[in-house]
Amino acid sequence: MSLVYSFAFFSLLLGGASTGTISKRATNPTVASTSVIGNVADASINRDSCGSSLIGDRALWTCRDSQPYGSNGVPTLPIWSSSASWSDFNLDGTPSTTLYGGGGSMTPYFTYPSDYCSGSTAGSCDDGTRYALWPDSPPLVTSNDGSTVTAYTWIRNYRIAGLSPEVADPSTTLYKLTYSLSTSDKNALPTVSIVNERFWAENSIGYGAYGNLVQDGTAYLFGKTSSGTVALAKVAAGSVEDLSQYQYWVNGAWTSTQPSLNDGTINIQNAGAGGQGTFYYSSYAKSFYWVGQAGFSVSADFYVTTADSLTGPWNSPSKFYSGTNGNYSLGAYSLQAHPDLLPSRSASTNEIYISYTKNDVVGDNVSLYTTPLIHVAWN
Ligand SMILES: *[C@@H]1O[C@H](CO)[C@@H](O)[C@H](O)[C@H]1NC(C)=O
Ligand SMILES: *[C@@H]1O[C@H](CO)[C@@H](O)[C@H](O)[C@H]1NC(C)=O
Repeated sequence: MSLVYSFAFFSLLLGGASTGTISKRATNPTVASTSVIGNVADASINRDSCGSSLIGDRALWTCRDSQPYGSNGVPTLPIWSSSASWSDFNLDGTPSTTLYGGGGSMTPYFTYPSDYCSGSTAGSCDDGTRYALWPDSPPLVTSNDGSTVTAYTWIRNYRIAGLSPEVADPSTTLYKLTYSLSTSDKNALPTVSIVNERFWAENSIGYGAYGNLVQDGTAYLFGKTSSGTVALAKVAAGSVEDLSQYQYWVNGAWTSTQPSLNDGTINIQNAGAGGQGTFYYSSYAKSFYWVGQAGFSVSADFYVTTADSLTGPWNSPSKFYSGTNGNYSLGAYSLQAHPDLLPSRSASTNEIYISYTKNDVVGDNVSLYTTPLIHVAWN
């Protein structure tokens, strides 16, 4: 498609053709300034790979492996595979970096199905493998009726030996989170239930785990396969649990037939840089953003790509920020964006908060996780 033709094509999609104006296609933003706000943490729990979602007037953070600190300040046992915690907003609307609540139980926040070595809080099995039920994305809030907030998280059921999965494209559990806004216990976390421990079957695409967002009442769910294909599904936000309502982006159109894992027509090129990250809509830029890390990267190098439509075309990801890496062999990962932490609680201003997990070695070869939160002003 020639450049001129593609401009005309997009102006048609955006309704610009009727006025004769040519709409500008999304471009990747560049950085005006950055500032490190601090470490998102609570005093008592060492938490890996956290992401945030807005629940009511607070941020809910869900994290991977979590553990207490010993009396020497070094993280100690037990490890539990996921945890959740709250943070507040300061009076000026900026996010507090202090996490609180959810530290007591020392059991996985995302409950283990009984057949996934649930006898261990880390999902450790007798044969030395482990069910690492780790969230890749924060909960997707699908409704808030003023009294109850409903959200969902998709977690791929990786069974790992070391860090190698036994099945490259495992099944995916769908979890539902429910929170009463009138709860009397400020520290209580949303309750979690398992909708289906194999919502997506083994050797199919784990839609929702790689990234997700709700736009105009529709939930858009990205999945990434072990071969690097990024695929997209959509469903009405109120019908997330109903597989029969899903549509899938296949060969340039929406269809209700779920494609196979290796379908050659489902990849959305440049929807992400290959690693973990966050999709969101910028109402300031009137375009979709993805912020995260490159594939096979363990450094805090942040990439951004943008598109007019979630189905693309997406621009080539561009690197916009490098944070300080930790001194562990896997020094930085789980790069995230936090649109819900912006003062408007949505990306209606030309800025974003980003974070990553910095992994440092302390004590006797133990990982200490910190979560630097960085404010980015775009040009
Ligand atoms: C790694 O970083 C941690 C945390 O800053 C520090 O305590 C430790 O001494 C560092 N280790 C090495 C080998 O530099
Ligand atoms: C530290 O732990 C990592 C991960 O378990 C391991 O790969 C590495 O060999 C360990 N290093 C030392 C010095 O024990």
